[in-house]
Amino acid sequence: MSDDRIRILAARSPRHGPRRPLNEWRPVVTLIAHHHEYGPAQPEELSTVARLARLGFGLSRDLFDRYASLFGMDSIRVLRVPRSTGTALAACAAFWTMNQWFGGRPVPVQAIAMVAVDPALRGAGHGSALMQSLLIEGRQAGAALAVLCPATRPFYHRLGFGRGGVTCRWSAPPSAFAQSGAAASDLRPADPLDAVPLAMLRHPLLKEQNGLPERTEALWTLALCPEGEPSELYRNQDGYIAVTPPQDRRLDVADLCLPSARSLKPAMTMLAGFRAQVDRVTWRGGPDDPLALLAGDGVALECREEWLVRPLDIDKALEARGYPADIREYAIFEINDGLIFGNCGRHHLEVVSSAGNISKTAQVLDPPARIGTAAFASLFTGHASARALWRTGLLHGEEKMIDRLHRVFCGAPSWMPDRF
Ligand SMILES: CC(C)(COP(=O)(O)OP(=O)(O)OC[C@H]1O[C@@H](n2cnc3c(N)ncnc32)[C@H](O)[C@@H]1OP(=O)(O)O)[C@@H](O)C(=O)NCCC(=O)NCCS
Repeated sequence: MSDDRIRILAARSPRHGPRRPLNEWRPVVTLIAHHHEYGPAQPEELSTVARLARLGFGLSRDLFDRYASLFGMDSIRVLRVPRSTGTALAACAAFWTMNQWFGGRPVPVQAIAMVAVDPALRGAGHGSALMQSLLIEGRQAGAALAVLCPATRPFYHRLGFGRGGVTCRWSAPPSAFAQSGAAASDLRPADPLDAVPLAMLRHPLLKEQNGLPERTEALWTLALCPEGEPSELYRNQDGYIAVTPPQDRRLDVADLCLPSARSLKPAMTMLAGFRAQVDRVTWRGGPDDPLALLAGDGVALECREEWLVRPLDIDKALEARGYPADIREYAIFEINDGLIFGNCGRHHLEVVSSAGNISKTAQVLDPPARIGTAAFASLFTGHASARALWRTGLLHGEEKMIDRLHRVFCGAPSWMPDRF
């Protein structure tokens, strides 16, 4: 596992400063349409970026500094536009690369956050220009997909993003977890600033589910220190649960990994123990979340948010992910991508022993299916089945080829607990 040196950064002061010395920055400035400039943010631009983030998301300066420290200043990109007196910073975004697991294998993805345009310059194409440069850079950096949690979908849909999976926010009264029959004392307090043992407990889930990110140090920090303070972590040999102190008669589970009854049952007893203090317990999970399945009366799906995915390198993505072990199958489809021409054309995928190979030479007489980048995102991640996409008119082709695609991409529903 690549996570063997993870320590998390919660103890850093929010104003700890950039993680990489400024003189090590490698500005890659690209000139794009109309002499716009795209590249890494310079230190003197940081307060303008913080201002755009505040105007775009209401992000306080302290929180902005915390994120900049966590993800690194070198994750921030800006778009500068010409002005009579020089250039103005019109838009900003941040990205980093990580692995997201699909079909039991890691796929390199570009995670995108903090996309914001100066309110005085919106509607002039700057957001799209920034995103296009960002996506090209993500592909050049080796990512096969881009992933983001959108505040608005139509803007990203125009850029070729499609629904990739969900984040479910569940809640239940603590009494819904009573009578699990296990002792909460089986869980022991643990150090929430050391994510190494937690990454090991979580690893089998990455293989079994679709869409879980292999967390970077920064994502572990956000998960375990959601408000900047370390949460209270309890674990045993099987799983863990981290909670923040009860507030306003609510108990928020910051993060959890409860893969079997050995950790689920004691965690339920522990949550039930809060029933004098809180009315609801909340946690984030997938559509078939185990706590939600086991909870008694009063469990509710409070919120179901979709995150978006865009293919950056289709062949790379298809060869990186895993497939059902018990099938030997092929599928052919055509894509037309208005931004990344390397994605365009016919893709012939052969699946054997849960691995996918792109064949450049195979002679197949079957007519290919046809699909757009957005629907491909939903198919690839397991968010929508080939049959569902076909019935809605988002995937075209003969039923025989649709069935092949259906078999190749069937799997667990796609979800992740992380929001960025
Ligand atoms: C969303 C945002 C980044 C778009 O930037 P922009 O420079 O105004 O976008 P563009 O001018 O490139 O617009 C491209 C297209 O998307 C559409 N669009 C832009 N913002 C939209 C929105 N919020 N909802 C729906 N459509 C939107 C535009 O109408 C345009 O469509 P058209 O090509 O048919 O005219 C910008 O409005 C913003 O900073 N919003 C606040 C922060 C935010 O919501 N960021 C996204 C977070 S994930």
